[in-house]
Amino acid sequence: MRFIDLIGKKRNGQELTKEEIHFFIEGYVKGDIPDYQVSAMLMAIIFKGMTKQEIFDLTEEMLNSGETIDLSEIEGYKVDKHSTGGVGDKTSLVLGPMVAACGAKFAKMSGRGLGHTGGTLDKLESIPGFNISLDRKEFIEQVKRIGISIIGQTGSLVPADKKLYALRDVTNTVDSIPLIASSIMSKKLASGSNTILLDVKFGDGAFMKNIEDATKLAKMMVEIGNYFGRDTRAEITSMEEPLGLAVGNNLEVKEVVDTLLGHGPEDLTNICLHSGSTMLLQAKLANSFEEAHRMLKEKLDDGTAYKVFLEFVKAQNGDISYIEDTSKFPLALYREKVYAPRSGYISKCNALTIGLAAMKLGGGRERKEDTIDMSSGIVLKHKVGEFVNKGDELATLYTERPKYEPIVKEILGAFEIVDEKVEKPRLILDTIEA
Ligand code: URA
Repeated sequence: MRFIDLIGKKRNGQELTKEEIHFFIEGYVKGDIPDYQVSAMLMAIIFKGMTKQEIFDLTEEMLNSGETIDLSEIEGYKVDKHSTGGVGDKTSLVLGPMVAACGAKFAKMSGRGLGHTGGTLDKLESIPGFNISLDRKEFIEQVKRIGISIIGQTGSLVPADKKLYALRDVTNTVDSIPLIASSIMSKKLASGSNTILLDVKFGDGAFMKNIEDATKLAKMMVEIGNYFGRDTRAEITSMEEPLGLAVGNNLEVKEVVDTLLGHGPEDLTNICLHSGSTMLLQAKLANSFEEAHRMLKEKLDDGTAYKVFLEFVKAQNGDISYIEDTSKFPLALYREKVYAPRSGYISKCNALTIGLAAMKLGGGRERKEDTIDMSSGIVLKHKVGEFVNKGDELATLYTERPKYEPIVKEILGAFEIVDEKVEKPRLILDTIEA
């Protein structure tokens, strides 16, 4: 077999066989096929797409390119969740303890933030001492003992994706449903859980800019998960405005604690109750969505979910005194309020603009190798649909960088304020099942 012929085949819109896809992925991981040929293949995939069978085969080959995690030692349903990424998305940190409090086993591998989107690992590492690098045995033991652990993805999981994603990044070939779906699902399948819940976001702050593309991606990923025998469902959620109020690492952890104590932002609380209910159904811990919702609400209201979060932080060496008293988290040196330039209803708070502004304040990474200021970011005071008077505070920025003046303007530019009443936007638009 010659890779040049496979490129030609895909360029002409023909279907690649399983053997050919195996040859492609194995050859690339081993270094037998060079980047320039794989770049051509990726571009051909962008233009010609892939059939379902090709996508299943590609996912399988990627999944088998490295180690897979065996969680079978852990009794009960191992549940996993993946968000396609957004601004202020701290859902896993609230949801994980909630579902664990109801008996699900939340064994999750997470990633870091890049660009305007944040990452769960960075948020966790803003808690002094928190260790995201447990070995496999420690990870499994902790999930058995307290029902939850979140760690960094090991380097040996899906090496094909690491290589391919780096190449896609520099060849403008990220943006393809077959490539995104196989990339995400190969990692989720390799992580070993029984069930997978996907939060596929759409909007300015998301990968998928509109609901149609988000739905197409979600359907494809659900089909892949189910093809490999995992109960996979997806929720289509809006990322037109940031989720919750806080954007930035320790600022978000404080909001997580508030939410677990029952006084977090309404949208964040609602999405956690909704997604958590779907996860409990997947784990067969509830018979109906309503029952699952009630169970989760109870665990929030009686403080059990908060206690699980404390145990989780403690188990991974985090200093729980910061959780017990979040005022201990260091505040950034510079804090500046942003005020409403006029009275009216907020009709827009652009998630992408806020995410990029938080990154420029030091709360995120422009490049993978950048370091983060854990206390930098933005806390919004109002959400879309709310009325503000001229001069009311819209947001506060936190930064260690003295030249923040242009960012104040950017944050202000994220907001639109109008005279007519604006309805609160819907957050969860659809749930996709097999
Ligand atoms: N996230 C991934 O893990 N892979 C993609 O291709 C896109 C987003």
